[in-house]
Amino acid sequence: MCGLVGYLGSKDALPFLLEGLKRLEYRGYDSAGVALLNEGNFSIIKKKGKIANLEAELPEKNLSHAGIGHNRWATHGEPSDVNAHPHQANSGNIVIAHNGIIENHLEIREDLEAKGIEFKSDTDTEVIVQLLDFYMKENPKVFFTDAVQAILPKLAGTYGILFLHKDYPDTLIGVRNGSPLCFGLSNGEFIISSDVIAFATYMPQVVHLEDKEMVIIEKDNYRISTFKGAIVDKELENIDKQQTTASKGEYDHFMLKEIYEQPRSVLRAIRGRLLNEEGNTKLGGINMDVRDFFDIDHICFVGCGTSYHAGLLGVYLMESMARIPSTAEIAPELKYRNPIVRKKTLYVGISQSGETADTNSTLQEIKNKGGKVIGICNVVGSSMARMTGAGIYVHAGLEISVCSTKAFTSQISAIYLLSILMARSKDMSIHAGRRLVKGLDEIPQKISQILEQKDRIREIAKKYSHFNNFLFMGRGNNYPVALEGALKLKEVAYVFAEGYSSAEMKHGAIALIDPECASIFICPDDNMRTKNVSNIQEVRSRNGRILAIVTEGDTEICDVADDVLEIPATEPELTPFLTIIHLQLFSYFIALELGKDIDQPRNLAKSVTVE
Ligand code: AGP
Repeated sequence: MCGLVGYLGSKDALPFLLEGLKRLEYRGYDSAGVALLNEGNFSIIKKKGKIANLEAELPEKNLSHAGIGHNRWATHGEPSDVNAHPHQANSGNIVIAHNGIIENHLEIREDLEAKGIEFKSDTDTEVIVQLLDFYMKENPKVFFTDAVQAILPKLAGTYGILFLHKDYPDTLIGVRNGSPLCFGLSNGEFIISSDVIAFATYMPQVVHLEDKEMVIIEKDNYRISTFKGAIVDKELENIDKQQTTASKGEYDHFMLKEIYEQPRSVLRAIRGRLLNEEGNTKLGGINMDVRDFFDIDHICFVGCGTSYHAGLLGVYLMESMARIPSTAEIAPELKYRNPIVRKKTLYVGISQSGETADTNSTLQEIKNKGGKVIGICNVVGSSMARMTGAGIYVHAGLEISVCSTKAFTSQISAIYLLSILMARSKDMSIHAGRRLVKGLDEIPQKISQILEQKDRIREIAKKYSHFNNFLFMGRGNNYPVALEGALKLKEVAYVFAEGYSSAEMKHGAIALIDPECASIFICPDDNMRTKNVSNIQEVRSRNGRILAIVTEGDTEICDVADDVLEIPATEPELTPFLTIIHLQLFSYFIALELGKDIDQPRNLAKSVTVE
């Protein structure tokens, strides 16, 4: 959510800023802007809309070697040229770009306005730059860095901020408090950003800042300190290029490409972690061995959006396989009801990006109360991975599409591995373990078989593209899949869809059923099939339109549903891996049919770094 990029070095800053913003565009695309320091003055170019709008306004040649840029996902103030970042102080001396929310902005604004400061934008961000400007005017001898340090305690909320001052042309400052910030360096050049992908191709190494740390880059040197000025020593980390480069290749959209990557991404998640002979799995990164499991009597999965849905599936798996009572929590709901943190609960944070503010702040709260926390995360070195210090990397590779697909199947891969591992230390027999491990091993190949049905799924999606209301229904392990399927359709096609337990339907949602409402039943051959068939019949009797996802050869359901899509036979516990693939492609093709902006859906951002 919002992308920050800053450059300081001997080369022209603009191409680095522009390239960085393009790579970060998936994080926010309401507006974009750059500020370049040119011979003692700032040139600021800001445009509403996508980077292409900004690019059209940029000068062909520019000789600045210091600049900052920003992609915005609007929080305070509508998307517009004026509200776009960077923001400049009234004196013209300072520019800043900000990711996060300043919660006490109204208070600061009113205070500054009472002192005669005029504001140009509706953003919370502008208070930072005007406050700093005012402070430097009041304290004419103060150095830029000291002034930044002096105003930070006045800001409440979360932020990653980049600062430039025209009288300090060789200084670029970045501060972090709750919004990610890192920088890369190479031969006296520095790029600082909210995400390593902004500079991964130019720089081999990265330094991640932690909360309440700042970096002061001066000419070809840098120092990191706390907000209070204590110097912090940090290691340079090597950048994993695989995690940081992506192109659409032969695909029209990242979403489609990432759906097609799933046979490989699931394979990467499980590779080296299956023990066929023992009917077990191994997960080195969780830093627990089998004896530690005796002390766990409850698992709590914590996440948001798709990651929450993966956690909800975790509840079904842990309870049915490992017989450990489990819950899944929408992260901020847990945090703000003041969690009762228990010694014997294992808290499992789930996040693709590892930067979701709601999830990270909830995990931090749990840690502060002494809870045991591990993470299931895709991005190596992300805030969540560093905060938890233990967990499972899912190795899905860079996910660019705002609508998450391969992250989900990778996350559930990790959850299956963890569930089997814990189950085998409890009641699960070696035979049951072997059956599931073998089944998992075959999943990538079975996902490929579904991807081969692309044309059929597209044809069906076309038939359903005129519906304005969808119910996605499933039971047991496929209830979380129903929620995830509905989320996909909402996100990319902007069509109203609700995920529902098919068991729960008759307690209310059945009132919606008529020929204008499409019911998508997830009804594979598992222990819920018979019950699901009854629920399908209930919809049929009320003239509802039915698309059913079934296991191949299920002629009974073919007879009652209007349309069916088939998954290959698999172990009943593992069907979510396959049913979700149909739903991802179904949503993709409906969005395509409706002409929506699939990779950058309106109002969304890839990683939500504000609470
Ligand atoms: C998924 O399609 C969504 N874009 C969104 O719900 C996402 O899963 C959520 O914001 C959590 O993100 P995370 O996995 O990076 O923490």
